[in-house]
Amino acid sequence: MSSSLLILQVRKQAKVGGRCARYEFLHFLFYHKLKIIVMKFFIDTANLDEIKEANDLGILDGVTTNPSLMAKDGVTGTDAILKRYVDICNIVDGDVSAEVIATDFAGIVKEGENLATLHKNIVVKVPMIKDGVKALKYFSDQGIRTNCTLVFSAGQAILAAKAGATYVSPFMGRIDDISWDGTDLIDQMVEIYANYGFETEILAASIRSPLHIVKCAEIGADVVTTPLKSIMALLNHPLTDVGLEKFLADYKKGNS
Ligand code: G3P
Repeated sequence: MSSSLLILQVRKQAKVGGRCARYEFLHFLFYHKLKIIVMKFFIDTANLDEIKEANDLGILDGVTTNPSLMAKDGVTGTDAILKRYVDICNIVDGDVSAEVIATDFAGIVKEGENLATLHKNIVVKVPMIKDGVKALKYFSDQGIRTNCTLVFSAGQAILAAKAGATYVSPFMGRIDDISWDGTDLIDQMVEIYANYGFETEILAASIRSPLHIVKCAEIGADVVTTPLKSIMALLNHPLTDVGLEKFLADYKKGNS
């Protein structure tokens, strides 16, 4: 049973039957040795310092990159880009998406196969285009893991899953940018994948804020990939700061 399906079942149980039903369902999963896959956190950057900082926090499950992020970090030229992927894999013990540049089937396959040899954690990132879908199916048949990127509709998400993509990346922020609601797409995808037990994991991308992360968790996205600042912003609450200040001040009064 896919993680999306399990999450949907838990959500339905919790909504219909309340907390007791939810605990009963979790007990059922435990008894039958089924496990719910916890939401994964990926960082969306090519910057090694940011990757190290997120990894040091102890909550990082992987990394996504794209050609824009490589360029932003000043990584140019094939050798430097391939080296950066290896450097990232040596920091994080988790999946690392490496995007192909080719847009024709033969080129995507050649590039993807080369990327996949770099490290066991490399996931080949393929754009949602016609030859990309063909390549996703090819890679899936070869046992090469993939991330289908630039997904903006439920129809595209169905194609990616049918082609056997390991991950599919809906771009939440860019949908919000054109005054649509990125959360609606993720919600639709969770339901569709659960209907058919698709194994493809929903990797919510183009995350712009901590609220996006929380929304994805509510809906049941399998993975979020976010810039470091959105992960760190999850830490913030003014009452935490005020409360800590008072605890420390009270301690000081009694212990100085
Ligand atoms: O993973 C895709 C993501 O990097 C796109 O983010 O902010 O450029 O829309 P953004």
